[in-house]
Amino acid sequence: MIYPESVSDAQAALIRLLQLAHAGERAAALAYRGHAAAWWARRERAEIAQIETEEWQHRNAVGAMLLKLNARPDPKQEKIMWGIGSLIGLLCHFGGWLIPMYGAGKLESGNIWEYEHAARLAQIADHPDLVPALLEMAEVEWEHEAYFRSQVKSHWLGKTLPLWKIPAAKAQIQTDFAEFVQTHSNVKEISHA
Ligand SMILES: [Fe+2]
Ligand SMILES: [Fe+2]
Repeated sequence: MIYPESVSDAQAALIRLLQLAHAGERAAALAYRGHAAAWWARRERAEIAQIETEEWQHRNAVGAMLLKLNARPDPKQEKIMWGIGSLIGLLCHFGGWLIPMYGAGKLESGNIWEYEHAARLAQIADHPDLVPALLEMAEVEWEHEAYFRSQVKSHWLGKTLPLWKIPAAKAQIQTDFAEFVQTHSNVKEISHA
């Protein structure tokens, strides 16, 4: 992965990524609301409702980060993702059990990397203060992915389906970031020598 070298480029990339995450978190929360309310979700209702709550918390945290960076959510992206989230939430009432669980697991696996990537951009953009919360959000997304994967695996048909790429162990999120900081500071020193 190639990262921007300048602080300003990294900040611009971080803002864009946070705008996408801010809109995406609402889509996820709305989809899970539909998910939890669906007729088939009786057993999982409380767990999925808890995941919905965590997505709203992420959205608030990301919104606060954007403000800190003197930026705002992207209205166009917000609208698109609101539509997508509402539609998925609605479709959950008609679809079966496995497809929404599978779709959620696949999406969550992408969310882990999204916040790890944002933490790295924040580090380059001279905003190390944002890093702990971004890595913590990556860890929560890791939990979400693990939950939906275990649900898919508990289904007779889900057991046979090819899965998305399984994330590394949760502890790796912190380790990989520390490694990135080390490598990045070495590269910086070499390029400034
Ligand atoms: Fe989230
Ligand atoms: Fe999530």
